[in-house]
Amino acid sequence: MWRRYLLWFAHEHIDFRHAEMQSIISMLDIPVKYIEEPSMKKPYWIVELPTEDHLKKIANRSVLLKSCIELWSHAKTESELHENLKQAVKNTSGKWLTTQDLGVVGSNSQICPSEQIEACCDLKKSFKVDVETFCKHFTMKEKVHKIENFSYLPLKGPVKLKNPDIILSYFEFYGVDPNNVPDKPYDVFFGRWVTDGQRDLIQHHSLKRRHFIGNTSMDAQLSLIMANQAQITSGHIVLDPFVGSGSLLVAAGHFGAHVWGSDIDFMMLHGRTRPTRVGQKVRASEESIRGNMKQYSIDSRYLDVVISDFSLPMWREGLKFDAIVTDPPYGVREPAEKIGIEKENYTLSEEHQINHIPSKVEYGLPHIYSDLLNFAARHLEMGRRLVCWYPLVREEYKEDELPCHPCLRLVGNSEQVLSKLTARRLLTYEKVHDNVPNIPVDPNSAAHNFREKYFSIGEISRKERKERKAAEIVANAAFIALAHNKKNNLHDK
Ligand SMILES: C[S@@+](CC[C@H](N)C(=O)[O-])C[C@H]1O[C@@H](n2cnc3c(N)ncnc32)[C@H](O)[C@@H]1O
Repeated sequence: MWRRYLLWFAHEHIDFRHAEMQSIISMLDIPVKYIEEPSMKKPYWIVELPTEDHLKKIANRSVLLKSCIELWSHAKTESELHENLKQAVKNTSGKWLTTQDLGVVGSNSQICPSEQIEACCDLKKSFKVDVETFCKHFTMKEKVHKIENFSYLPLKGPVKLKNPDIILSYFEFYGVDPNNVPDKPYDVFFGRWVTDGQRDLIQHHSLKRRHFIGNTSMDAQLSLIMANQAQITSGHIVLDPFVGSGSLLVAAGHFGAHVWGSDIDFMMLHGRTRPTRVGQKVRASEESIRGNMKQYSIDSRYLDVVISDFSLPMWREGLKFDAIVTDPPYGVREPAEKIGIEKENYTLSEEHQINHIPSKVEYGLPHIYSDLLNFAARHLEMGRRLVCWYPLVREEYKEDELPCHPCLRLVGNSEQVLSKLTARRLLTYEKVHDNVPNIPVDPNSAAHNFREKYFSIGEISRKERKERKAAEIVANAAFIALAHNKKNNLHDK
């Protein structure tokens, strides 16, 4: 039987919520009825799903979802909520009713079927009631008072605060603006807790405890969101062509994919770059992408990583991936380079060929994204996804200027703000056509030089930062000299 649920989300990466949820829902092919239009201004959705199992499947993937409640009552005020619950105890119709159905004039609240409540009224089932508030804090005493207001519910089992059989949840929503909190909540909810989302995974995969990280390692939460948007499932073959320290492979491997990576940086793939952690002098032996996969017990899904310049394709024609997830270089914290030489008609004498280390030239963003989209169009299975970051200056953003390809449909586009002026967008493309020849670099996108713009808008603060650092060094030197003089004076005495 279809049931109504309250999906409560974490109040972060709000712009990613819809893309993550839609990716999971369509990947699992779950029919969803939206009882209320999802809004960015509310940290919750109210939906109906065919079974509780469907809800658990969604929650088993989402990292932005906090908890899921089987809804018993939803109202604008506390008293209305209690009135609805009292009516619900008597609603034996087997379906949700409105107060209008019951002949109450001037009200249109919804009443759940009594069987949802009855299922929790077993003598042997212990229970507790939790109170959660959004944007307002209550003392324990105030919370206990709110809990006592539910004493009319026909719950027969014992109260148990630790590991009860049933957890009932009461939510009060005071809006999302902490500077403008109303006296009374905008919305109140009551129901049975069913399951939590995957927030714990963020701690479990935290970069703080990851063996091998680099300067640009993607944080755990965003890596998992990317894997969800790429609709990665067990047995998929997934590639990150700008793999760096392999954070995206860890998330893809967690969801059961077998993972490949490639990167131009020999030192990074061999775990020989300078340690990223403050105070660490040399890299430990287990610091490698394979070491990370071992750390999370998913090394059986590690295929390998290859040193390769993405601008020079090395994958066999006809090879297909189930997903491509990647964070290309923006040229800010890491160089965006490809093999090449500025000199024209350059030839290499035979004697120099053996030990020759090729020179590199700039790999501009328009070329990177043109190569990436062409590659995805050729090497993705039909219907599968490319998920990649795209940096930009916020005020110059125009959706119709995002990278595009006739074989790829943009199905997700979420913004992560990096600074007042810059952002990056997580773009999700789905392969919808085959057999289209490579498209050339978009001539308009040549204007997209994020690196240049990033540094030109950051110039003043960089200069300030340098001056501040110089002043700090001078102050430190003066302090050391003073301490030294004091010590010498004491010694002389
Ligand atoms: C933003 S970082 C990726 C970080 C990675 N997601 C992680 O979690 O560590 C971009 C990577 O692209 C690599 N790169 C730059 N130019 C490249 C090229 N021409 N071909 C392949 N990789 C390249 C850099 O070495 C760097 O590791």
